[in-house]
Amino acid sequence: MTGMKVITVDGPSASGKSSVSRWVAKELGWKWVSTGAFYRGLALVAMHEKVDSADEAALLDLVGSDLWQVVLNPVDTEVHYRGQNVTTEIAGEQVGAVASVVSQIPKVREALLDRQRRCYDPAVGLVAEGRDCGTVVFPQATAKIYLTASPALRAQRRSEEEGADQQVTKELQLQRDNQDSQRKVAPLKEADGSLKIDSSFLSLEEVVTEVLKYARQKGL
Ligand code: DC
Repeated sequence: MTGMKVITVDGPSASGKSSVSRWVAKELGWKWVSTGAFYRGLALVAMHEKVDSADEAALLDLVGSDLWQVVLNPVDTEVHYRGQNVTTEIAGEQVGAVASVVSQIPKVREALLDRQRRCYDPAVGLVAEGRDCGTVVFPQATAKIYLTASPALRAQRRSEEEGADQQVTKELQLQRDNQDSQRKVAPLKEADGSLKIDSSFLSLEEVVTEVLKYARQKGL
């Protein structure tokens, strides 16, 4: 093993990052974090607190407030807001779209970075998924995965999960992916030395098997 006891899984929306990383963490007995929950949580809290998604100062106040928390558990990265578990509320393309907007703001990213890094416990190990886990949050991760799938398949998966229209979902995802890939700070991109996996024609189990094999090759 050359770096931290961390596996990062980055990639575009609905590429299967959460399902894969949750399962990999379970196999290894490690912790799992979906870093998107920090951006989604902030987006949801801003919506409830009537904070504009372009109001940097107010968003930074929300990041520092104790109105909301991110709580890790083996099956979900939970968001709690004003004492309620709002994890089911943060799923979905509507909150995802606002999350993508607030994630463009460099100071917001910086403020959330420390909270994301604190999810790592070297005694346990961590599988971290998102957009910049391998490039920015955990550049010292021992194994880095870039997970992708065709836009059509990603839209199909997400629209089935949400019971939403497939074409609308596809357009929202493409818009979000463009925004996430083109932003100036910590854009979605393949980290140096990452293994790219296209999950379009693979089952979830096949992707997990490939990630675990790669992790073993890296000495994890
Ligand atoms: O992975 P997700 O769909 O839950 O992420 C929601 C949004 O949060 C995503 O469109 C961009 C932002 N995000 C980010 O900028 N960096 C991350 N590491 C994870 C998510």
